[in-house]
Amino acid sequence: MKILSIESSCDETAAAVTEDGRTVLSSVVATQIDEHKLYGGVVPEIASRRHCENIIGVTDEALCRAGVTLSDIDAVAVTNAPGLIGALLVGVNFAKGLALTADKPLIAVHHIKGHIAANYITYPDLQPPYLCLVASGGHSHIVKVNSYTELETVGKTTDDAAGEAFDKAARAMGFPYPGGVHIDRAAKQGDCAKYKLPRPATKNEYDFSFSGLKTAVINLIHNCSQKGEEVDINSLAACFQETITSILTDKFIAAATALGYKKIALAGGVAANSVLREKLAKRAEENGMDFYVPELSLCGDNAAMIGCQGYYEYLAGNVADMSLNAYATKKLHML
Ligand code: KG4
Ligand code: ZN
Repeated sequence: MKILSIESSCDETAAAVTEDGRTVLSSVVATQIDEHKLYGGVVPEIASRRHCENIIGVTDEALCRAGVTLSDIDAVAVTNAPGLIGALLVGVNFAKGLALTADKPLIAVHHIKGHIAANYITYPDLQPPYLCLVASGGHSHIVKVNSYTELETVGKTTDDAAGEAFDKAARAMGFPYPGGVHIDRAAKQGDCAKYKLPRPATKNEYDFSFSGLKTAVINLIHNCSQKGEEVDINSLAACFQETITSILTDKFIAAATALGYKKIALAGGVAANSVLREKLAKRAEENGMDFYVPELSLCGDNAAMIGCQGYYEYLAGNVADMSLNAYATKKLHML
């Protein structure tokens, strides 16, 4: 079954053609990062406008690279939640138009489920159940993946998402948006024990809280500047990265151990972080767990992961109709 999938939840306009969920025939991503960089973060209205301009070209390119036309496609899948509402609406309405014109089924995909599904593309034999840590610009969730389509949240952030904390701390350190990858690079030259940063507590042991950690980085930079002291940015990046990846790893491994999982996965944009990947691989091995993480190109936003999840939604009978809408927020267990 060939699916044409569309993703426009944030600042990437993406389209892909996948076959039977796990085979990627094409995947095209048009990023708007250079434009949002000028403002230090994503400007929602600009994101929507760029999606409007790019979505037809990106979709044409995905069909062309896959060597297919719309009539060869069996269904159209689209991210309808969560994300920037104006950005999601562009993708949803475009997908509805395509499905209506080509008379193909329409499938709605939850963005987080899509991120998790990126693992199925990298590991053709991976099957639920397993426990997944999803860390992206908008989310930090520990999720029980009970089946391809039934997911349950065990813990989540009570304030900033991990990627958001990376980006805000990076901005304070003088790095451009999105800062996660810059912290990852700078940290390689730094001393991860030079500065002491807090590990904020949470009521539920599997929830996360990163806003205090981000604020500690900002305060440290302000205090140094007031005293005329120079901040060793590489070391601050290394300390921040060490702290946030330790929090994510410790809580996730503790949850997997307590809940009896021997199979664990990582997903979302922050899954590209080199230290988080290393830490989880090591801790999984020590605990006799199998660890799965998407290849780097599938960690950030893309439409191949939406096509993959769309396939499993279709098999589960989750097909949308022309009343499909977009939602800025949506719980994982809701269809
Ligand atoms: O999943 P994603 O592409 O978009 C959302 O759904 O939010 O995630 C983007 C986030 C950004 O916050 C970005 O800084 C972060 O992923 N990110 C990283 C790295 N690469 C991307 N964070 C830490 N280390 C990285 N290497
Ligand atoms: Zn994402």
